[in-house]
Order: sequence, then structure tokens, then C-alpha cells
Amino acid sequence: MPGLEDSLRRPVRGMRDLTPEYYYALRRVEEVLSRLAESFGYRRIETPAVEHFEVLAKKAGRDIVNEIYYFRDKAGRELGLRFDMTVPVARMLSYRLDEPKPVRWFYFTKVWRYDEPQHGRYREFYQFGVELVGSASPRADAEVLALMARAIEAVGVGDYVIRINDRRVADRMLLSLGIKPSEEIYRVLDKRGKVSEEELISMLMGLGIDREKASELLSLISAAVPYAEAPEVISKYDGELAERHSAVAKALEAFGVLDHMAWDPSIVRGLDYYTGIVFEAFAGRYKLAVGGGGRYDDLIELYSGIKTPALGFAIGVERLMEAAGIEKAENPLDYYIYPVSGEAYGVAVEVAEALRAKGASAVVDLGEWSLREALERAAKTGVRHFIIIGKKELEKGVVKIRDMAKREEVEVELSRIKAGL
Ligand code: HAM
Repeated sequence: MPGLEDSLRRPVRGMRDLTPEYYYALRRVEEVLSRLAESFGYRRIETPAVEHFEVLAKKAGRDIVNEIYYFRDKAGRELGLRFDMTVPVARMLSYRLDEPKPVRWFYFTKVWRYDEPQHGRYREFYQFGVELVGSASPRADAEVLALMARAIEAVGVGDYVIRINDRRVADRMLLSLGIKPSEEIYRVLDKRGKVSEEELISMLMGLGIDREKASELLSLISAAVPYAEAPEVISKYDGELAERHSAVAKALEAFGVLDHMAWDPSIVRGLDYYTGIVFEAFAGRYKLAVGGGGRYDDLIELYSGIKTPALGFAIGVERLMEAAGIEKAENPLDYYIYPVSGEAYGVAVEVAEALRAKGASAVVDLGEWSLREALERAAKTGVRHFIIIGKKELEKGVVKIRDMAKREEVEVELSRIKAGL
């Protein structure tokens, strides 16, 4: 039988099958990041993969709306798969109005985007992120930035930078050039680095900006400085915002992460819900952003009718793992039990159950391999202990336990194992 054609054996374009080796590595990263978020007082949430399309489309921005997996269910409801967790969190808080503020929530879960698949860009991927809702303080901005920095460090990347800008400063900068700020312009600027400078200029010209102003704008946004110097740059546009960023910088210094922060006017972000500070994180030599975030003070009001300041970040888990060089984690089996004869099988099962009750993992051979073959396979898959129960052992009331790494064998009384010792 020929079976399925090759294209159907593979996952749907842009999606991936995760092997146990990769999945266990992902689980470890999940544990480390969850513990970190909890240590900052954040609590985990989950929401449905499927949302009302109207909720998703409200403030996503045109590029993202085009990336939403859209469908109708059998009752004709217009639905979509969530493309991030910020929108579901905002929706959830719009009916849970009495949740004590500020709300500190985190997530580690899948999101879906009908993006053009390429290296580091998938249609189904994991995001770890936090949302801090109900505070407008610059200290809230610093807490979220510091937590993002700690998350990157926690997976083992010491060499990283978080590039920060502010939508309000960007607005002032555009106005200083006589350009009216708009989502269209930000969407074009967000393409910087992804398309050539000449293409950017012609896209800006397409929005009615003349060539000279367009190149002036591009050179203005190319000037990044350490974040400690941001207040000086911002003061040229707005004194109050300069003071705010000075307070953020001071708090970041207290966290000890200020040196990892840069002021970069080219960071504008592709999502439409941002209203204040915005940022993206870059790790090691990895080219794409491993994370992004910012303040979205109007989004929750859009759903609940109640003005609620908020900010957060999300990290692309697969990208961060790649930047950290994490590809797989071993999860070796503790015991492989080999009953040499048919009558030893029942004993092998009892031994396995006793070991499992103690928290160990154990597999009983299914009787399809010779002892030699089973030993070879166990060595290859990194089993810790190989237990042999043969006729001799049964007579003596013992089992033979081979330590695969040390290549040593000991005999242990069956009654001791069964008693859980
Ligand atoms: P975002 O920048 O769209 O922000 O996504 C966050 C991160 O998810 C990116 O930096 C990237 O690492 C990863 N990512 C995005 N698209 C893909 C893809 N196609 N394949 C693999 N990884 C990808 C947000 O989602 C906002 N909700 C962040 C936020 C939280 N803002 C406020 N709170």
C-alpha cells in the first residue's frame, strides 16, 4: 500500500511536529519561566484558542488582521484563532471588572498567525508573556521590562538588548518634521530592516511624504543611544515624557538591568493597540526579535468601556530557545525490565508497578526482542538501569539490576523492591 502522499505526511505549512526531545526542552523552559513570573507575583491564566473574530479584529492593525485564522462554526458564528494573548486578556478583564488591580497575569501558550513561514516565523508558535493591568506608573513599565530581561537571562542568554521607544515621542518626532502621525506610517516604519531603505522611502512617499522628509525621518530614527541617555534625547520633544523615561531608567537601575536597555527610535511595533512605551528584545546573534511589548492604555476601554492603563510583553518561545541554543532535553527512562522467560513476565510487571509507585519510570519488555537486542536498544536510548529477571533469579528470589552508565550489576531481593525499598 503506498500510504499518504508525502505532502500529507508533513504538518500543515508553517506548523511543526514536536518530538519528545524538543518538547521536554520546551517544558523545562516553561517551568523556568513560570517560576520566574510567579516569583514576581504573576499568576498563570489560559483562554480559549478560539475567539470572536470581532474581538480579535478590533485593534489588531491591518497586517495582523490579515494574519488571523478566520472561520465560521456550524452555527454561522464568525470566529478566529487568537494571534496573541494581550487581546484575550483584555477581553477577559472586560467582564471581570472586580479583579483587584493591578492585575499581574502571565501565560505560556500557543498562538496562531497566518504569517509567511520562514526561519523563526511559524503559523503556530508558543508565547510566554505577562500583562500588568491597572497601573500607569513608570515603575510598572520598569517592572515589566526587568521581568522580560530576567526571562531572557533565565534561559541562559547573557548577551541581549531591549530596544525601547515611546509611541508618544515618535508622534512628536513625526510632527517636528511636519508629518501627521498615523498607523499607516508606523506600519511602514515597522518594516525597517525587513525591506531595503529605498523601498521604505517609496512606501513613505506613497503615504504623501516627500522624498527629502522621508529620508530625514529615516536618519532620525536610526540614532540609537543607551537608555540612560534617553531623557536627554526625549527632552528635545517633550519635557514630561523625558521625566517619565528618566523615572523608568532609575527603576531599571535598581533592578540592575539598565545596561541592557537602549533607546531606539526605530522601534514602533506592528500592533495598533500601543499608546506609550514600546520595546523589542534581541538575544545573542539571533537576527529576529525574541520578544516585544509595550503599553496599551486604551485597549481594555475598547472592550469594557472603562479606561484601564496596562502594559505587557510576549516572548516567542521557539525563537528564544534557538537564540539560547536549546534544542533538546533528555528525559531518560529509569528502568527497562527484561523478563527472560514467560513465567518471569508477571514478576516483571509487579517490579515495574512497585518502581512506578516510588516515582520512577519503568518499561517492561514486550517479549519481541532477545536479551542482547533489548540491551543494545536500552544503551542507545540512554536507559539508566536494566533489570534482568531470569530463571536463576526467580529461583533465588532476586532481580539483577545493571547500572548502564557504570556497567555494574547488583542483585537485589525481589521482596525488597516489592516493599518499595
Ligand atoms: P509580537 O511582537 O507580535 O507581540 O510577538 C511577540 C514575539 O512573538 C515576537 O517578538 C516573536 O519573538 C514572537 N513571534 C511573533 N510572530 C512569530 C511567528 N510567526 N513565529 C514565531 N515567533 C513569532 C505580541 O504578540 C504582543 N501581544 C506582546 C505584548 C504583550 N504587548 C503587550 N503585552
